Amino acid sequence: MQKSILIIGACGQIGTELTMVLRAKYGNDSVVASDIREGSENLVRSGPFELLDATNYAAIEDVVMHYEIEEVYLMAAMLSATAEKFPMRAWNLNMNSLFNVLNLAKEKKIGKIFWPSSIAVFGPNTPKEQTPQHTLMEPSTVYGISKQSGERWCEYYHKKFGVDVRSVRYPGLISWKTLPGGGTTDYAVEIYHKALENGAYDCFLAEGTKLPMMYMDDAIRATISLMDADTNKLTIRSSYNLGAISFAPEEIAQSIQNHIPAFKVSYKPDFRQDIADSWPSSIDDSKAQKDWGWQPEFNLEKTTREMLENLKK
Ligand code: SER
Repeated sequence: MQKSILIIGACGQIGTELTMVLRAKYGNDSVVASDIREGSENLVRSGPFELLDATNYAAIEDVVMHYEIEEVYLMAAMLSATAEKFPMRAWNLNMNSLFNVLNLAKEKKIGKIFWPSSIAVFGPNTPKEQTPQHTLMEPSTVYGISKQSGERWCEYYHKKFGVDVRSVRYPGLISWKTLPGGGTTDYAVEIYHKALENGAYDCFLAEGTKLPMMYMDDAIRATISLMDADTNKLTIRSSYNLGAISFAPEEIAQSIQNHIPAFKVSYKPDFRQDIADSWPSSIDDSKAQKDWGWQPEFNLEKTTREMLENLKK
């Protein structure tokens, strides 16, 4: 199947892997990667690459017209921890980039959009365990407020203008190919790197901080299944809850100690603890299961095995 796809924010943690999987699926030339900066050699050389600022509507429109783009994956965003430091820059990037692609779709210049939301849309008053799709949502972080507003705008553009926008609320994502940047769940990636480099890790979240997490392969599969799903089956146009595994720092540490018995963890919670404390511990994703057949494949043990094996190389 031929189709022309643009990834905005292709050099980030999700974008790099998503781009390569989509290139394998649709052909290298069909998937245009773009970012504000150049990423890995492999990504930039394996297919078309454009330097692109996600907040610049005219620049995105040029790329869309030039390559006759049909689908856009908007992966550019400022994550939770960085957004607390630069609230206005986060709001500007996270919202304006979304409006740019929503308006391109409204103008019928593109046909379909993927936009990631996050567990950060939930807040301290949300039920923590098996957080339902529809529940009290009072996000208390800059990032969460931007994602919650974004979800409202996605649903609005779908209802009002028929825009085919699809979204999931990603949990913390664990991957070895590209480092995450500026998130609160980043500890769950750092811990593997430090276990192999130093045999010790000083964790910025406290023991007992249980958060929803997912291995990147599952996240990419979820993203592409949702984009492939029959539009008539989709009942959620804000963003789907998406779950896989949930654990606290001491549990991921234990799973690493099963492979590296001498690995030591200490805990020094910083400002990110407050962010983590406002988020759910586990997610009810029954809507995603029912509407488009979502099922995760990686538990914590399998994730740890994959991470350690690949990082060792
Ligand atoms: N992983 C993100 C963060 O920690 C949440 O979506 O900011």
